[in-house]
Amino acid sequence: MRITITRPDDWHLHVRDGDVLAHVLAHTARRFARAIIMPNLSPPVVHVADAHAYRERILAALPGDARFEPLMTLYLTDATSPNEIERAGDAEFVHAVKLYPAGATTNSASGVTDMAHVYNVLEKMQRIGLPLLVHGEVTAPEIDVFDREKAFIDGSLTRLADEFPALRIVFEHITTLEAVQFVREARAGIAATITCHHLLHSRNAMFVGGLRPHYYCLPVLKRETHRQALIEAATSGNPRFFLGTDSAPHARQAKENACGCAGVYTAHAGIELYTEVFETAAALDKLQAFSSEHGADFYRVPRNHDTLTLERRSWSVPASYPFGDATVQPLRAGESVNWQIVETG
Ligand code: NCD
Ligand code: ZN
Repeated sequence: MRITITRPDDWHLHVRDGDVLAHVLAHTARRFARAIIMPNLSPPVVHVADAHAYRERILAALPGDARFEPLMTLYLTDATSPNEIERAGDAEFVHAVKLYPAGATTNSASGVTDMAHVYNVLEKMQRIGLPLLVHGEVTAPEIDVFDREKAFIDGSLTRLADEFPALRIVFEHITTLEAVQFVREARAGIAATITCHHLLHSRNAMFVGGLRPHYYCLPVLKRETHRQALIEAATSGNPRFFLGTDSAPHARQAKENACGCAGVYTAHAGIELYTEVFETAAALDKLQAFSSEHGADFYRVPRNHDTLTLERRSWSVPASYPFGDATVQPLRAGESVNWQIVETG
């Protein structure tokens, strides 16, 4: 069996920098026409000039035959100025600003410590139409790690959406039934990305026969009822939900560690894994809308014109891929994926 869809985009991606950039970027560029590039480098991408330089490094690292456009984002800090946002609005390569609550995830130490510090900036973004991308988890250590997304909705996101009624907001990598409900019922201009690993796995995957660090990401995988709610949302045809892999590579030794990093690497099979999910849900007819239409419409960029054809033929995922001088272990390492790309046109 084969299916052909409009070439998809990845609306949430980490490609890192330096000697690993070319390694991970090739996987994405083979599948996706564009990707929203996360700014959580060390140091983070806080100025338009940083985003411009990072974009140049990404373009230089692309394989010769690639047709791929990086869509850049800025990293919001307590010190971001409304003037910088103005510049971002004028720079056609900057498409959004990312909010990490300080301490929420990988390289988020420079994130926002109190929403009150960024109100001027959000005001400006609302005025010029620049979307806010939110890592929606509270960081208070007393909140149970599995409840951090729901606590963020109740403690911050609901108010944010009300106080800035025209600000477009993407609730990134949602993982819970509560997040699905929030996005479904929210005012216009609120959307969410959903990762393939949260669609494929519940939190049990982290503990099969022992501790499985390659399934650890943030927000952490949740229980099965939440996974079912995510599948329903992704396959519903509701334009508020779209594809964002959150592919987040870390060197093997940084994952297999007494204090392992958060992040699952999925760029090597980014669209193929979603296709499995949609097939299992008997919703292959909804794959194109989720992967290739809803995100472009939300970001107000044209839909792609080229296509991608997938065939239901399994292939074996290698145990690891090169990652600079190290290696990265991808999702399904040493196992198979049921769909493969046969044509791009
Ligand atoms: C991401 C990373 O490694 O940069 N990790 C993750 O588990 N998703 C950061 C993030 O998106 O939270
Ligand atoms: Zn991410």
